[in-house]
Amino acid sequence: MKTPVPDYLNHVLSQCNSNDQGQLADYIPELASADPNKLAIALATIDGTIYSIGDDDTEFTIQSMSKPFAYALALKHHGISAVLAKVGVEPSGEAFNQISLDAKHKLPKNPMINSGAITTHSLIPVKKKVSRAEHLRRFLSELAGRELSFDEQVYQSELDTAFRNLSIGYMLRTVGVLEEDPIDIVHGYIHQCAIKVTVKDLANMASVLANGGLQAKTGKRILERDVARQVLSVMMTCGMYDAAGDWLTSVGIPAKSGVAGGIIGVLPGQVGLAVFSPKLDEHGNSARGIEIMEQLSQDMGLHLMEGTPSAQTIVQNRYQIGKRNAIVVYELRGVLQFTESEMLLRILQDEPASKNTIILDLTNISLIHNVGVKMLFEGVNRLKEDGHNVVVLDAEGILTEEQCKGRKRIVVKQDLQEYLKKVLKKDPK
Ligand code: DON
Repeated sequence: MKTPVPDYLNHVLSQCNSNDQGQLADYIPELASADPNKLAIALATIDGTIYSIGDDDTEFTIQSMSKPFAYALALKHHGISAVLAKVGVEPSGEAFNQISLDAKHKLPKNPMINSGAITTHSLIPVKKKVSRAEHLRRFLSELAGRELSFDEQVYQSELDTAFRNLSIGYMLRTVGVLEEDPIDIVHGYIHQCAIKVTVKDLANMASVLANGGLQAKTGKRILERDVARQVLSVMMTCGMYDAAGDWLTSVGIPAKSGVAGGIIGVLPGQVGLAVFSPKLDEHGNSARGIEIMEQLSQDMGLHLMEGTPSAQTIVQNRYQIGKRNAIVVYELRGVLQFTESEMLLRILQDEPASKNTIILDLTNISLIHNVGVKMLFEGVNRLKEDGHNVVVLDAEGILTEEQCKGRKRIVVKQDLQEYLKKVLKKDPK
């Protein structure tokens, strides 16, 4: 059988092919020569599978879609509170290139509009003559899974007409948000916007954000979970500028657009999406891109506010074995967040007080949230107070060293069958 996902994406693409609305961006002269007919979609799952169709090998400049990743890099290096001291997180309701500051704090309102993005660019560390833009290019290449390059022509073209961004730079220098030469910073920011990508690169990048900062293909944690969450939150509220409310209600996922015609979208925990079509609407967002995202959201049930219910079961199997059936095994499965942990504790509550050994097997738990760890071990303590001997089996090492600290006698890094063989041998029927 061939998966129908590419056929479905093709169907969406052909449906919006006739949409001729919008204009090419021309305030960056080089962008006005783009082919307006280009059209592509890519979808990357969080386990590293990618589907793409249309002009999916066409490179275009990343433009404002670089902003969330530059923000991620700044957060990674300075921490959330240090970055918040320089750039706010409030939606501005203004155009992307508004010359404005938050009236009270005299800071850029958020990192998705140009004033915030120029500031964020200044927070990317420069090391051993590696410029900020180059640092970001390397970071984006890692996220995309291939070596990306700059479009020097688009860069030069934007430099020639960068009066507005330079005004923003001087404004930021005047209030002390920028601490260095604003011309260098603005030029660096414009260079960052000229990194070339395809929809496949963008979907791969977006899927790392969808996966809480973990890159499935390499197994590498590229961003901490709290950084990915911060970036997505800001994309959700500010990513589509003065169309953010429209976007949130009609598409309902964190997103970011760029004036070369790309849009990325992230459905946390599920997929990274990217579309490309160069003609823009009055907000500077790809006109056909928006139509495609709306369609995908509707068909695929992506809207975050639909509130996907959590798994209906956390206990995959419960059985008793050994002498007098005194070993009770709970094989757990799925994700252990608040809802599932509450469900587990409610089930464990029915375990009558005894000297039984209770085994909680985490082998098939795919993700455990901090609240899940807390609730699990609180349950363990209460079972022990009832007289039980409790063992948590963590063969896959889903618990961190930190989470296992002081629990060496409870957490056993062993496979269930191996562990049962050992205890049943010691204490046969
Ligand atoms: O700073 C600029 O004006 C461009 N380099 C990027 C703007 C952009 O992509 C706005 N997004 N839709």
